[in-house]
Amino acid sequence: MVSRVIPVDPFDLVIFGGTGDLARRKILPALYRRFCDEQMPREARIIGAARTEQSPQEYRDWVAEALKEFAPRSAADPDGMAGFLDRVDYLPVDAKGEGGWSDLKSKMRDDVVQAFYFSVAPALFGDLAERLHHHGIAHEGARIVVEKPFGRDLGTARSLNATLAEHFDESQIYRIDHYLGKETVQNLMAVRFGNVLFEPLWNAQYVDHVQITVAESVGVGGRGSYYDKSGAMRDMVQNHLMQLLCLTAMEPPSRFEPDAVRDEKLKVIRALQSPPLKDIVRGQYKAGDNPSYLDDVEEPDSRTESFIAMKLHIANWRWNGTPFYLRTGKRLKTRKSEIVVHFKEPPHSIFDEDAGSRPNILSIRLQPDEGIDLSVTIKEPGPGGMRLIDVPLDMSFADALGPEAADVPDAYERLIMDVIRGNQTLFMRGDEVEAAWAWTDPLIEAWTERGDRPVPYEPGSAGPEDSAILMHRDSRRWREVG
Ligand code: BG6
Repeated sequence: MVSRVIPVDPFDLVIFGGTGDLARRKILPALYRRFCDEQMPREARIIGAARTEQSPQEYRDWVAEALKEFAPRSAADPDGMAGFLDRVDYLPVDAKGEGGWSDLKSKMRDDVVQAFYFSVAPALFGDLAERLHHHGIAHEGARIVVEKPFGRDLGTARSLNATLAEHFDESQIYRIDHYLGKETVQNLMAVRFGNVLFEPLWNAQYVDHVQITVAESVGVGGRGSYYDKSGAMRDMVQNHLMQLLCLTAMEPPSRFEPDAVRDEKLKVIRALQSPPLKDIVRGQYKAGDNPSYLDDVEEPDSRTESFIAMKLHIANWRWNGTPFYLRTGKRLKTRKSEIVVHFKEPPHSIFDEDAGSRPNILSIRLQPDEGIDLSVTIKEPGPGGMRLIDVPLDMSFADALGPEAADVPDAYERLIMDVIRGNQTLFMRGDEVEAAWAWTDPLIEAWTERGDRPVPYEPGSAGPEDSAILMHRDSRRWREVG
């Protein structure tokens, strides 16, 4: 039982950075899968644009190779592949010069949706926006899509926003946080606001605490020079974890519409207190079968964290007194992301003390094995006394909705189609990004000023021991990572 596919309107999508890694791994495979599911209309066109001088046919050959690697279904479907490649074009364009822009103008159609994907370094966003404007290429309804990192602090994010705003209206700017496109993240909203069951309990009176974990088993090798300038705080917390926190904690929006949802998320960020440094643990992975963090980034004295855990408080009526614990890191035991809501124990137990009792836990698994799991207390079956046990009411999407549902679309598939549909609900608004940096910056400044060093942790573990201690201090414990 999978949802019906509704084709989007015809479009011209220009991918600046069309020969780059993101295009190869994510954007083109996502478009290909939408094409195979017949969501891309016949008249849709994808125009790769980059500095490389090559013919459209050479680009199509490169795209075909990329699809074979990152959309394996394409290898098994030569007709599908040929049909998709028919829609792919290429133009050499110089983001910082004048080359290619008039050709691009003559290629663009006026009577279809126009979208421009800036899959390039943020330093080029301004150049691209200005040239699109200056050459009269983008029409009024055109959309631009920008990728993270959206700034590296409040100052740079503000100036990026200001640069884009010189040429495009906020309603035309789609800032991608691919976590918002993940199927289960949207399910979090469906669970909260589509059921009467949870919302009355979704507050400090009933929720003991919330844990948000994004654990990765990979290291930073290969992108060490970027990563070392960011660290887990800038790379993951300021954006992905912050978005998960917002969707978990926000008030119900009046409608599932872009500004209604984004207004509520913004309120959460603004209500987020700045934690004391003692509530933040930063770590760096040691060497194991793979090189250490310091070797990966080739900076023996680096103080950048590849792991971070923190305890946060949201200063509003709903969440007063309920901590939110966040953690994310590289080279951990396994790849696992989840949001876990730990409810409080019943106010009074009618059973004997030795019957045992456990609080209810709702876990929303983002990856792998997307699904939702609610642990409830029941009587242990069999004769004898009343003994209580926990059983999971487990809803793996694959079990509940059939095997096709396990093949959930990649976040980019949904997000790119939302760009074409003109739906900004799952994209970050400029003020949201700035508010997230305004919260992040003083923390980074504080630990930098103090000269803190991240603590080393074993690769394949759940992070540094201090992260477990952060929880023990509150008589709580993290869920297992693996
Ligand atoms: C990216 C980060 O935004 O998200 C990476 O820059 C990280 O460091 C990645 O690995 C994680 O995404 P996902 O979808 O694999 O969880």
